[in-house]
Amino acid sequence: MGRGGEISLGVFAALIGSYMMRTYRKYVRGVEPKVVDMTGKVAIITGANSGIGREVAKAFVKMGARRVIFACRNVKSAQMEMESIAKELQRPWDGGIEGSIDRMEVMKLDLNDLASVRDFVSAYRKLKYSLDVLVCNAAVMNGSRRMSMNGFEQNFAVNYLGHFLLTNELLPILKKSMDGRVIFLGSSVHHQVKKLDFDNLMMKHSYSMFESYGRSKLAMVSSVQHYS
Ligand SMILES: NC(=O)c1ccc[n+]([C@@H]2O[C@H](COP(=O)([O-])OP(=O)(O)OC[C@H]3O[C@@H](n4cnc5c(N)ncnc54)[C@H](OP(=O)(O)O)[C@@H]3O)[C@@H](O)[C@H]2O)c1
Repeated sequence: MGRGGEISLGVFAALIGSYMMRTYRKYVRGVEPKVVDMTGKVAIITGANSGIGREVAKAFVKMGARRVIFACRNVKSAQMEMESIAKELQRPWDGGIEGSIDRMEVMKLDLNDLASVRDFVSAYRKLKYSLDVLVCNAAVMNGSRRMSMNGFEQNFAVNYLGHFLLTNELLPILKKSMDGRVIFLGSSVHHQVKKLDFDNLMMKHSYSMFESYGRSKLAMVSSVQHYS
């Protein structure tokens, strides 16, 4: 083989190698969260008992958060997940952290009921905790039209209205933090929504799961602009 052939073989091997590394990182090792120092921080995560919320809660504890509140409607499930996170964090490859259970706490929050949101905030105020990060993560995507306790279409009520009230009520506590922030979990589905139809916001006449979910996420994106 000539020198040109050796070079192209080398380039080919490098490309294959880089492709395999990327595939390994993406599908085997998983995405490594960016490590941020959360020492001393207090965070609330809605829906921290499953999916993304659970992983965010675990990551916050791992990054040193002083207290992570699991704001969940199912207290029993949240308690179980909290205990399982504490066990996972004891593993050497997960940080070998002892006693992390003392930095986590479950508090009842049902975003489907605005009275529950107010009860949550009043219980939080009584605890006199500070607040540095609020993660509005919980969400539903109903296949058929359902209503919230307050008579709003449920995807819009849980994903947006409940979180909007929660954020507004917690804002005075958040503002006292040196570096307070609110994180809204969006979705690319919001791109499919052409506009917020205020004449049919509750989707009384025609219901579509993606349209309704997308609207709730579009409203959240608009909130980000409002708060910033
Ligand atoms: N997973 C994805 O591919 C994806 C893509 C785009 C955006 N997102 C967004 O990322 C976030 C997390 O998604 P995920 O897949 O991790 O969701 P998930 O596993 O389905 O978890 C949703 C969480 O929301 C909670 N929840 C539902 N209704 C609630 C209510 N009324 N009050 C309080 N909590 C309630 C659930 O509690 P229960 O356990 O009690 O049901 C659960 O903990 C959501 O905002 C979602 O829209 C996800």
